[in-house]
Parts: sequence; C-alpha cells; structure tokens
Amino acid sequence: MCTTISVPAIPDVEAFRELIYDHYHRHGRRLPWRMTRDPYRILVSEMMLQQTQVERVLGKYEDFIGAFPDFPSLAAAPVDRVLLLWQGLGYNRRALWLRRTAAVVTGEFGGELPPSVDLLLTLPGIGRASASAVAAFAFDMPVVFIETNIRTVFIHLFFSDKGHVSDREIIPLLDASLDRADPRKWYYALMDYGSMLKGAGERVHRKSTGYRRQSPFKGSDRQVRSAVLKVLLREGTVSEAALAQVLGEPRDRVQKVLAELKNEGFISAREDGFTITS
Ligand code: ADE
Repeated sequence: MCTTISVPAIPDVEAFRELIYDHYHRHGRRLPWRMTRDPYRILVSEMMLQQTQVERVLGKYEDFIGAFPDFPSLAAAPVDRVLLLWQGLGYNRRALWLRRTAAVVTGEFGGELPPSVDLLLTLPGIGRASASAVAAFAFDMPVVFIETNIRTVFIHLFFSDKGHVSDREIIPLLDASLDRADPRKWYYALMDYGSMLKGAGERVHRKSTGYRRQSPFKGSDRQVRSAVLKVLLREGTVSEAALAQVLGEPRDRVQKVLAELKNEGFISAREDGFTITS
C-alpha cells in the first residue's frame, strides 16, 4: 500500500527567499571554511561540523589546516599527530576516516575530490549530508540536502502546528525553494537562519522524527575511549592494567574499550601494552 503524506507548499517562494537572504546579508557568519573554494578545506570543515558545534570547530580548524594543508599531507601524516590535532572535537573516528579518505583521494582520484555526490559517498566517513554539503559548497552543485539547522528553518516556518515532521515532508519544500543560481550562498543563508532560531531558544528540530538527543558524555564509553586515546597520545605505550589504574576504571571496561579501539584501527597491541597505530 502506498501511504500518501500531505505536503504543504511554500505559499510564496520569493518571500521566503527574501526572508532568509535578508537575514544572511545582515547577520551571515564569516566562517573560515566559507572563505575558500578548496574542496579539501571544505571537506575537513564538514567532517568537523558533523557532530561538533561551530564555536568548538572554530578553535581547531585553522591549526588542523595549518598542520595538514592538503590531501597528500594528511594521507602521509602519522595517526597520532592527526588525533592530537583532533583532540577537543570528539568522535575521533572522524579523524581516522578523514585520513583514510585523504589516502583514497591521493591514491585513486588523482589528488582531487570528485564533483559527484555518488562518488563522495564511497569515501570513508562521508554520509549523504556531508557529501551534499561538499557538492554545494565546493562545486556549486544544486543538490537538495538537509541537516539540523536547515531542518529547523523548515519546521519553524512551515510545520509550526504539526507534532512530528519527517525529512520526507521537508525535502519537497527544499527542492521547491532551492536557489539554483547560487546553492552555496543559499545553504549558508539557510544554516545561519536555523542557527539564529536555535540561538533564540527555538527547539523545533526536536519535532523531527529523526531527532535523537546526543547521549551524555560524562560516564559514557565515549568518555573512556577519549581518555584512553589521550593517555596513549601522551605516554606512547601503556599496558591495560596501567590504563585502568590511571583512569580509575574497572579492568573489564578498559579491556572492552581497548578491543573496540583496536578493531577500529586506532591502536595496536604490543608486547608491553597498547600504542596509537602508526
Ligand atoms: N558553513 C558551512 N558548512 C556549515 C555547517 N555544516 N554548519 C554551519 N555552518 C556551515
């Protein structure tokens, strides 16, 4: 059976664009990754922004780009150096994926990111939103995509009386209003309007059917993972017993986290303990 959903149309697309662009022209954010068209720099920013707030990324982005200015330098960098520069952004897997992506781009794509969402999706750690954002921001491609700030704008303006909203309902409105003459500027403007709404206390994104609250960091396995990596980055090689003692965590918990990190390629086991994979 085919379920139909009732989709509101945007009553006046021109007026909607004017609202979004008017805010952008007055209050648009001049972020460093918006001052470039270099696909590498744009990809790095999108990977960092996947699960981390803009303010936090601002404190890390320039140092990362300074240390690894292009795909070849990131592909050739030792893992511990990449993780060190990633510290503070959280979700360290993204750093490993980015380095692997750099290796694939350098080795298989002639050093250039492909201007194709489908090919970008084949790269490690790049999902639909990041691939589309890179396509729009680096290659001016008029792709339709949704992320948290964009979602907030549409729910706030067009679904204000609805309890739950799925992306399927929002996509047609995005498609109808996309400024195909300047998708890069349009998406910056939409993101900034959504960010302004959230800053103003708007919580409408929680009405999204895909909304998941980020689980608390304190006391989580994520925290133990991050603490283990921090110790190994500082000390070099450390045994499981010493890690458990330094972190004040039960041995079996540390063992489990070490096994996960090893499986994911972050760390390697040596005779005298664990170390960041080189
Ligand atoms: N500018 C470009 N990409 C962005 C993102 N993902 N979040 C906020 N601002 C951005």
